[in-house]
Amino acid sequence: MTKERKHSPRDADFWQAIYDEGDTGWDKGEPAPPLVRAINALKLPTDTRILVPGCGFGHEVFHLASQGFQVTAVDFAEGAISAIRARTGDLPITALLRDLFSLDQDHTASFDIVLEHTCFCAIPPEMRDAYAQVTRAVLTDNGRLIGLFYETDNDEDGPPHKTTQADIDQHFSEHFEIVRLERPNDSFENRQGQEWLTELRKR
Ligand SMILES: C[S@@+](CC[C@H](N)C(=O)[O-])C[C@H]1O[C@@H](n2cnc3c(N)ncnc32)[C@H](O)[C@@H]1O
Repeated sequence: MTKERKHSPRDADFWQAIYDEGDTGWDKGEPAPPLVRAINALKLPTDTRILVPGCGFGHEVFHLASQGFQVTAVDFAEGAISAIRARTGDLPITALLRDLFSLDQDHTASFDIVLEHTCFCAIPPEMRDAYAQVTRAVLTDNGRLIGLFYETDNDEDGPPHKTTQADIDQHFSEHFEIVRLERPNDSFENRQGQEWLTELRKR
């Protein structure tokens, strides 16, 4: 993902080129086990509305929708959203091709949960406060951001950009109460010891 590209990661074209080249090395072909565990533990009612920003091929999206949750999947790369639409069938999935940073224009207080998986590490670091603000804006009162943040050992120019515990505190604590923050022991093998599983409650 760090090879030289014509576009900035702030642009959909940067990501679409990755889909066109089939260079989606982040994709594990299944939902992240810590996120599946965290969602199960919440015992959410099936009318729960869940947003998955930067959803990629949507393994978390399909997992959640198959449990009956109302899932909105957002990505600004056409390669991601068309792949999801092709598989949606009767599942309760709305797949939106758009920039996540525009969601507060028409989705204020629309979701009970935001599920974050390797989207925060994909955005330019200078957008991190804006990410915290937009995810807060789209959540209902008491809404929660369930996140699996990637503390990649990539120290070169990202994406992915490293997310430390201090970064989570710095960018989210103004907008969210940090209810839970743990190093999961069920991360994918090549991400062991490099992830933070969080439950953040909207302030
Ligand atoms: C590293 S991938 C992760 C995909 C998926 N969450 C996963 O874990 O498999 C990051 C995704 O975020 C999307 N993305 C990055 N910035 C975005 C933005 N501003 N709005 C919408 N999608 C964005 C990219 O197109 C890409 O599909």
